Amino acid sequence: MAEASNGKSYGATAGTINIGGNAYKVVDHEYDVVVVGAGGAGLRATFGLAAKGLKTACITKVFPTRSHTVAAQGGISASLGNMGPDDWRWHMYDTVRGSDWLGDQDAIEYMVREAVPAIIELEHYGVPFSRTPEGKIYQRPFGGMTTEFGKGIAQRTCAAADRTGHAILHTLYQQSLKNNAEFFIEYFALDLIMDEGTCRGVMAWNLDDGTIHRFRAHKVVLATGGYGRVYFTATSAHTCTGDGGAMVLRAGLPLEDMEFIQFHPTGIYGAGCLITEGVRGEGGYVTNSTGERFMERYAPSAKDLAARDVVSRAMTIEIREGRGCGPNHDYIELHVEHLDPKVIHERLPGIAETARIFAGVDVTRQPIPILPTCHYNMGGIPTNHHCEVMTVKNGDPNTAVPGLMAIGEAACVSVHGANRLGSNSLLDLVVFGRSAANRCAEVLTPGESHKQLPHAGEEAIARFDRLRHAAGGTGTAQLRLNMQRTMQNDCAVFRTQQSLDEGCAKMDQVIAGSSDIRVKDRSLIWNSDLMETLEFENLIVQAQATIRSAANRKESRGAHAREDFPERDDKEWMKHTAIWVDEKGKTRIDYRPVKLQPMSNDVQSFPPKARVY
Ligand code: FUM
Repeated sequence: MAEASNGKSYGATAGTINIGGNAYKVVDHEYDVVVVGAGGAGLRATFGLAAKGLKTACITKVFPTRSHTVAAQGGISASLGNMGPDDWRWHMYDTVRGSDWLGDQDAIEYMVREAVPAIIELEHYGVPFSRTPEGKIYQRPFGGMTTEFGKGIAQRTCAAADRTGHAILHTLYQQSLKNNAEFFIEYFALDLIMDEGTCRGVMAWNLDDGTIHRFRAHKVVLATGGYGRVYFTATSAHTCTGDGGAMVLRAGLPLEDMEFIQFHPTGIYGAGCLITEGVRGEGGYVTNSTGERFMERYAPSAKDLAARDVVSRAMTIEIREGRGCGPNHDYIELHVEHLDPKVIHERLPGIAETARIFAGVDVTRQPIPILPTCHYNMGGIPTNHHCEVMTVKNGDPNTAVPGLMAIGEAACVSVHGANRLGSNSLLDLVVFGRSAANRCAEVLTPGESHKQLPHAGEEAIARFDRLRHAAGGTGTAQLRLNMQRTMQNDCAVFRTQQSLDEGCAKMDQVIAGSSDIRVKDRSLIWNSDLMETLEFENLIVQAQATIRSAANRKESRGAHAREDFPERDDKEWMKHTAIWVDEKGKTRIDYRPVKLQPMSNDVQSFPPKARVY
């Protein structure tokens, strides 16, 4: 019997597989559902599945409460109307407009309607939200969130000070333990087990004892987060290496809308750490070197609370035109010195600490130096609103992949389209984590037997063995740095065909150089050299998907700002990119249509129009 990380025995059996003269101890497990990842989406799905009586395992490469959701600061959106009038239709309109009309309106309707019960549920599970004087959940304004279809500013973002992700993650982990979910902690997922187009499980490496694990499941739910670490500067944790997206590509399936990368306007200059948009929600503002509150020029109505892509572009233009701050004129300043210190103490304690540690700034007296920083991937594994993975096959763009689901930042539902609104991410995690659990409960019968697949996972072990013994001349860190610099310089806030083509050529070189990769440590226990190499392999295919998709899309939409094609082109480009990347880095592109039709008759479609803030 094998033991999971929490010391429990889950009835696994063990054997040995020999690859290239190396014997690997392989432990077999059978579950109804396996969730990969223990961030907000993964934990919401895990405990929902366990609570519905499905035998569920959650595999995670970090301890659950260290998942990247812990870093989410400003809040989670829902039209509760605690601080003024609100309506889910206004939230829907804002999300469609924020997405620059690339979001699927059926999925968006589903998300914003489910937001209200999902937040009440979180409150009942024990999330310690900040409170209004009457004891209701406190809600702050956030960029792009409006009332009456763009007329006023909505207070829609539910907050637990500026540590909302931390509060939610701990609560969801507690709920998972309460519902006896089974955890495999510090297990690195290697590859999906695919059988004639159906997903039948996942392979994983136990970092702590070096064993390989073969998890059989009727559904695998990928909740592996984003791949922000393809960039040199990112608000994402170093663990955000898009492991699920890469497994999907290696399974011969496409990723969607990878060209849309969100740059958060307020990353700390130099360090890249997040300073929440909640700062501007509480009254903070940005200035250039002349002290001008320049957002008034770029977004006369929403000003500092325009959508993130708009603020990031404005900041970049200010710096380019010589109005950046500091000796090198290369950053913008964010001010909260004018706020009552009580507001900072109660609602923004986390950013005060972060600014002190990473920028050496006392926010009650000095502005914070900031720059747009890679923050979120709008693209990912294509799914429908039930979280079932979709592919394009024989001309059908809505072909489901049996056995495979995806949620959270790893997925592209698509509710964020070309640009996500702040605080819609935590919402996406809990709404679709819950939706995945509900869907599995609908379609699965607990305890069904698994198809016999005696050679399952051997390819994954062979890949693992090849990298473990890679004896080339180039270290993983060098290749990763080349990839990150290419993305940072050539696939940034503003793009041109020239910068993207140059970036594609450099990325091809990094991919070619990967055949010369070197792993020095051949051990199996806590081998961080090997783990970083596996993570690099995951990152590089998604960097390639991103830069190739960006070079292909000849328009500007949301976060994809092409200087050579400055207009949105709905006639040619209102469509989702689907991109395949093979093991040699070669790409193929196809398209999926945008769903403009909402899910119900309770709201009308929001037809495309100019996006003015
Ligand atoms: O600014 C923030 O607090 C980030 C929130 C988000 O990305 O949703």
